[in-house]
Amino acid sequence: MRILLLGSGGREHALAWKISQSPLCTQLFIAPGNAGTLSLGTNCAIAVTDFEAIAALCLSEQIEMVVVGPEEPLVKGIREFLTSYKGLESLKIIGPGKEGAQLEGSKAFAKSFMERHGIPTARYKEFSVGNYEEGVAYLKEHPLPIVLKADGLAAGKGVLICENTQEALQGFEAMIQDARFGEAGKKVVVEQFLHGIEISVFVLTDGTHYVLLPEAKDYKRIGEGDKGPNTGGMGAVSPVPFVDAALWDKIEQRVVVPTINGLQQDGIPYCGFIFIGFMIVAGDPFVIEYNCRMGDPETEVVIPRLATDLVALLNAAATGQLQNRSVPVDSRTACTVVAVSGGYPEGYAKGYPISGLEQPHDSLVFHMGTALHEGQVVTSGGRVLAVTSFANSVAEAAALSQQVQAKILYKDKYCRTDIGYEFC
Ligand code: AMP
Ligand code: GLY
Repeated sequence: MRILLLGSGGREHALAWKISQSPLCTQLFIAPGNAGTLSLGTNCAIAVTDFEAIAALCLSEQIEMVVVGPEEPLVKGIREFLTSYKGLESLKIIGPGKEGAQLEGSKAFAKSFMERHGIPTARYKEFSVGNYEEGVAYLKEHPLPIVLKADGLAAGKGVLICENTQEALQGFEAMIQDARFGEAGKKVVVEQFLHGIEISVFVLTDGTHYVLLPEAKDYKRIGEGDKGPNTGGMGAVSPVPFVDAALWDKIEQRVVVPTINGLQQDGIPYCGFIFIGFMIVAGDPFVIEYNCRMGDPETEVVIPRLATDLVALLNAAATGQLQNRSVPVDSRTACTVVAVSGGYPEGYAKGYPISGLEQPHDSLVFHMGTALHEGQVVTSGGRVLAVTSFANSVAEAAALSQQVQAKILYKDKYCRTDIGYEFC
């Protein structure tokens, strides 16, 4: 099968690494890819939202399956665009249509979906310019902290956790009145704060059947001990030690099954990944968010643990044949440690040469924000490289990843040294 993978991060490098190992994959193209994906397939300098150029590439390279990494093209309707393009009617696409992608693209859509289908989530109310004053009154009565979520895609910046009412009122006004988050801010979800531990669970579905991939825990804050601003993710572990069979069963029965059934009942076809972000509160799972794609850096621990052919699974998803599929996994622990550019998640410089990539080791190095410049691998993003290692405990896997990271060098490099700390 000739496969095109869309995206350029660590998630896509990990997917490309796994896809390229499949005997079913005869040729792999990555658009746009990064310096890491270069050795696994053909990088094509096409943006993930340039649907015309993607369609042209699919035609000229006789692509049979497109795997969509990030959410933006899905929310913008890449599935509808490609499947209605002359000559691409039979293209297999991993990723939902525009409506299914609303699970991630609109917080208000996701909340009403969960409410309608009895899926446990934080209590909420939705406000917009039309009921602004009602929202202000609601916030004044609301217990602290208050969670505010801008409705649309906001590149991870649409959530405010407010410790006092004043801050919440200011955030609310900014989101609604000033359209601070652009189009995304016109509707705001005000949500109950849930105290607990976050985990991420990944489902691959054909719209009727599903398989569960291993769970992971992401470390979102920039600083050691989970301090400081949120990032895209500074590291991840899988499995998560406290997730036992009883919790897994609650996750599946209370959330995964009603999610798949809910999509069917609502008449929303869905082929692709659903990433469910959970808050586990006193042993019970509550959904914090849905994403219509895999997570990054969670993919860098989840995908390497799959002891099965990913392309065969994706093909089963694309052809409605996920029924009775099992997903064998490596029982060892995987830990990934992300290296970022100095200054991230605020401003940072790009273009610094990276050394130490040739050292021998047993870990996996996934490029996140790298490029090849005159034969030299250089930094080209906030998150630069993820190093994934396997071991029999979180502590050992984390130590191995830290050892490899310590030998990879570029100017102003920063890594958290405590990924997995609660489990060590
Ligand atoms: P989201 O973009 O919805 O994933 O939210 C970003 C982060 O905000 C999450 O990863 C959580 O850490 C936090 N968060 C979101 N909603 C809640 C909530 N209801 N209670 C507590 N924390 C939350
Ligand atoms: N690591 C969180 C995300 O991919 O959204």
